[in-house]
Amino acid sequence: MRMVDLIHKKRVGEALSEQEITFIINEYTAGSIPDYQMSAFLMATFLNGMTDEETSFLTLAMAGSGEMIDLSAIAGVKVDKHSTGGVGDKVSLIVGPVVASLGIPVAKMSGRGLGHTGGTLDKLESIPGFQIELSKEAFIEAVNTNKIAIVGQSGNLAPADKKIYALRDVTATVDSIPLIASSIMSKKIASGAEAIVLDVKIGSGAFMKTVEDARVLARTMVDIGTRLNRKTIAMITDMDQPLGREIGNANEIRESIDVLRGTGDKELTEVAISVAAYMAVLGKVFTSFEEAQEAVRDIISKGKALDTFKRFIASQGGDSRVVDQPELLPTAAYHIEVTAQQDGFINEIQAENIGIAAMVLGAGRAKKEDLIDYAVGLTLNKKIGDAIQIGESICTIHANRLDVAEVEAMILDAYKITSTQPAPKQLIYDVIE
Ligand code: URA
Repeated sequence: MRMVDLIHKKRVGEALSEQEITFIINEYTAGSIPDYQMSAFLMATFLNGMTDEETSFLTLAMAGSGEMIDLSAIAGVKVDKHSTGGVGDKVSLIVGPVVASLGIPVAKMSGRGLGHTGGTLDKLESIPGFQIELSKEAFIEAVNTNKIAIVGQSGNLAPADKKIYALRDVTATVDSIPLIASSIMSKKIASGAEAIVLDVKIGSGAFMKTVEDARVLARTMVDIGTRLNRKTIAMITDMDQPLGREIGNANEIRESIDVLRGTGDKELTEVAISVAAYMAVLGKVFTSFEEAQEAVRDIISKGKALDTFKRFIASQGGDSRVVDQPELLPTAAYHIEVTAQQDGFINEIQAENIGIAAMVLGAGRAKKEDLIDYAVGLTLNKKIGDAIQIGESICTIHANRLDVAEVEAMILDAYKITSTQPAPKQLIYDVIE
């Protein structure tokens, strides 16, 4: 087989076979196909797309390019959850303890944040003592004992995807539906998921800007799951403004604790309850979504999810006292209010720009090797639809320095204030099964 022939085949719009796709992935991972040929192939794929069958072959080939995690020593259906990324998205931190409290094993491998989106691992590491590296045996034991463990992704998980993603980044081929869908699903399959709930975000802070595009991506991933025998449900949810009110690592732990206590932000709570309920259905604990939703609310209101969160933190070496004493989490030295410069209503909060403002403050990384400051972040005091008067605080900057003029300007720019109140935002646009 010659790569040049396969590039040509894709260029003229023909579908590739499983053997051909596996050849490309194996040879590229091994270094025998050069970046310039892979780049041409990715661009041909970007322009001509892939059939559902090709996308599934690509997913399997990328999943199989490295370690395939075996979770068979853990009892129960291993249901994973994935968000396509957003700002203030701490849903994994909330649904983990909730579904674990329902008896569903949460054996989760997460990633770090890069750019304007945060990462679950960084947020967890803001808890003093929390360890994200466990041996495979310790990971499995922790899940069998506590029903939940969250660790860093193995360095050898879907290495083909890692290499291809880096190439897509510099060849303008990131936003291709088959390439995004296979990239996400390959990592879920390699990490041992038997069923998957996907949270596909749309809006200013997301990859997908329209409901139509998000539906196509969601449908593509659900179809991959079905073809590969992993029952998959995709929710399409709003990322036209950050989710919840807190952005930053320790801040997001504090807000997750509030939600687990039943006193958190309403919208964040609703998204988390829905994700957890779909996970409970896929975990075969409930047959109907409504029944599962009721059980999730109950688990939260009885304090059981919060107890599980404490046990989970302690089992990974963290200081579980943070749950009752959030002041033990890293706290910034300065709290600076950003105030409105006109009266009106909040019409828009550009999520991506808020995420970048938090990153500039030190809560995120511009480059992989950057260090982050767990204590810093933003609290959004006003969300879309809220009334605001001149001089009122729209956002609090939690900083470890006083020169935050740049961050302040970014926040003011991200908030759009108008004289009329916008219609309430839809939170969950669709669910694809
Ligand atoms: N997230 C991924 O893991 N891969 C993509 O291609 C896009 C988002």
